[in-house]
Amino acid sequence: MHDILSAKKILSLVEKQDFYNLVVLDTVNSTNSYIKELAASGASHATTVIADSQTNGRGRLGREFFSPGGTGIYMSILTDPSKIKIPVSHLTIAAGVAACRTLTGICDASPSIKWVNDIFLHDKKVCGILAESVVNAKTNTFPYTIVGIGINVSTSAEIFPGKLSEIAGSVFPANITRNEIIAKLLNEFDNICSNAEIKNLVDEYKKYSRVLGKKISFTKNGKAFSGTAKDINLDGNLVVSLEDGQEMILSSGEVSLGSSNFLS
Ligand code: BTN
Repeated sequence: MHDILSAKKILSLVEKQDFYNLVVLDTVNSTNSYIKELAASGASHATTVIADSQTNGRGRLGREFFSPGGTGIYMSILTDPSKIKIPVSHLTIAAGVAACRTLTGICDASPSIKWVNDIFLHDKKVCGILAESVVNAKTNTFPYTIVGIGINVSTSAEIFPGKLSEIAGSVFPANITRNEIIAKLLNEFDNICSNAEIKNLVDEYKKYSRVLGKKISFTKNGKAFSGTAKDINLDGNLVVSLEDGQEMILSSGEVSLGSSNFLS
């Protein structure tokens, strides 16, 4: 399928054509890093950088996000908190729901989210989200948040290096180009950010959850814990019922399904 990334094509498919400033690059170190530079030189809300490949794609917790050319979507959206209806703290959940809505219906399985924001299909991680704030050192404010989204669209299993091949997979959608997927994702993300109903957003996020009601394990301050994921509260935090009966609320970090530290 003809699948060359094109700003013109993407813009022809989004609902709000004048809203986006799309920058499409062949290759870049990281779209999140690149858009930070654009923000520093005055780029505005809804500027979006998309690259065909990244040489230093970044994931959460200092990990790499494998970003080969021609087979993935690597994009970052610059978001001005004053121009959206949801709190900045919910942007990462908004991106997760937007990604799940986008993937639903373009492939043969239902996506699910491992809190906070790893998106799985067929028990393989196909999408990750990295939200980062840009700090204004003078005012100590966060004028922008960058929402970075990486999707393995058609990266074949043999290409994922080392241990990643056990964890990562691809969407392999039928009859849809990356340009079409990106436009759908931008539309969904904008629709979610334009709606102030946080409860609806969190409820939808919970519907996609692959951890709720399951045994999970995690480490906090260097200590290992196990318990059952009970709820995701309105702040997007994970409520865990620990094995000793106590409750713990997680606002960040990473959990594993099961009682060992297995990365799924
Ligand atoms: C994760 O899985 O831990 C998050 C991965 C986020 C990857 C995306 S790809 C586009 C943007 N640019 C980056 O360097 N990272 C994000």
